Amino acid sequence: MGSTPESTHEEWLKRHRAVMPKWLSLYYDSPIELVSGDGRHVVDRDGKRYLDFFGGILTTMTGYNVKEVVSAITEQASNMVHSSTLYLISPMIELAEEIAALSGIENPRVFFTTSGTEANDTALMLATAYRRTSQILAVRNSYHGRSPSALAVTGNIHYRVGTYSPFQVSYVLGGSRLRGPLAQLDDEEYIRRGVLDLEDVLQTQTNGSVAALIAEPIQGVGGFAVPPDGYFGEIQKALGSSGALYISDEVQTGWGRTGEHFWGYEAHGVRPDMLTFAKGIGNGLALAGVVARAEIMDSLNASSISTFGGSPLAAAGGLANLRYLLANKLQDNALKMGSLIVSRLQEARSETSAVADIRGKGLMIGVELCEPGTVMPSPKRADLVMEYAKSKGLLVGKGGLAGNVLRVAPPLSITEEEASLGAETLVEALEFGSKEGL
Ligand SMILES: Cc1ncc(COP(=O)(O)O)c(C=O)c1O
Repeated sequence: MGSTPESTHEEWLKRHRAVMPKWLSLYYDSPIELVSGDGRHVVDRDGKRYLDFFGGILTTMTGYNVKEVVSAITEQASNMVHSSTLYLISPMIELAEEIAALSGIENPRVFFTTSGTEANDTALMLATAYRRTSQILAVRNSYHGRSPSALAVTGNIHYRVGTYSPFQVSYVLGGSRLRGPLAQLDDEEYIRRGVLDLEDVLQTQTNGSVAALIAEPIQGVGGFAVPPDGYFGEIQKALGSSGALYISDEVQTGWGRTGEHFWGYEAHGVRPDMLTFAKGIGNGLALAGVVARAEIMDSLNASSISTFGGSPLAAAGGLANLRYLLANKLQDNALKMGSLIVSRLQEARSETSAVADIRGKGLMIGVELCEPGTVMPSPKRADLVMEYAKSKGLLVGKGGLAGNVLRVAPPLSITEEEASLGAETLVEALEFGSKEGL
């Protein structure tokens, strides 16, 4: 069957369902196909235009069709798409130098991969090789990717496939402030109990020698769950004599998205031994990687290679994208636009009774939908809000263990006008989703 232009939307959906895995989920009752984009807007196959507050899962970082990025990609594509890491790749070297300088990691080395999963796999492989133990600590409600090793440290049952784990993993607390053992605690008490839990886990579930702790500074798939500032810094201190390395998964929180910092770990006073990155750096190109202290990165006593990691095409696009982000101070913009959106959502709280929590930092805003007046998750209301927003030309994402948290994460280049319009539409959708008897 050819891709005839006359194929209708319904036919494409049917063909998708006939050939793709059933677990590859699509948003919306009537899923859409996005065919072009410009700035913060995308257009679907039927020509309908949307303001995009999810950016291809926080990946379209500087925007669609950014001239500087597109021309770097086009130029590189017309010269050479791929050569492999067996040869020098100057954009890869330049990009590694710039990321290393920004990383905050001492004596950094950078290894490029093609996905966040592969970046985390690499960090875990390095940690276990360097520390000569396969004991790992991870955080409940986390998501780190889809491979067996990334899933082994993913504390979200909906993504766990089977029980296989290459590591001995123990899960510590962190993330949610609305439910679970640390719910409704003030910052000090949250941190105190989290540290107590970690100490208990170390004593009861490990032999005292741990390879690493891996954590997202703000949990992405987990519904933009934000622990108190400083939490992971105290956790790192408490790791003490276990020798555990600290891996900060910056796949969602990196590149200034949180507004106040370039990396999410900076809100915690953590000194990471490694950080992993993906999503935003490529603005849609398959580009990811890990930054590690040299002694850790170089501790492998075997060869390792990622055929596509840091390819000429991805590296040239990533470099132009990073330079655009820095030159246009998009981190500052994330801070300003994020607070504009949050204040509008907060103002409307009395008319949006299904909103149990608004949280996040910068342009990483979570809106948790529950049955009005309770903390009982309402994925149904979240879906209704998403459908309503879509009908008004606004796309948002969702996450959280129960799928009831809207994820608001537009490209970092969003303008004030777009932020205000999007916030207004979202408020209208939340009012609709808060109606009695839904
Ligand atoms: C925090 C985090 N780590 C890792 C990953 C995995 O990245 P990828 O889907 O590129 O493999 C994701 C993906 O959503 C993520 O959010």
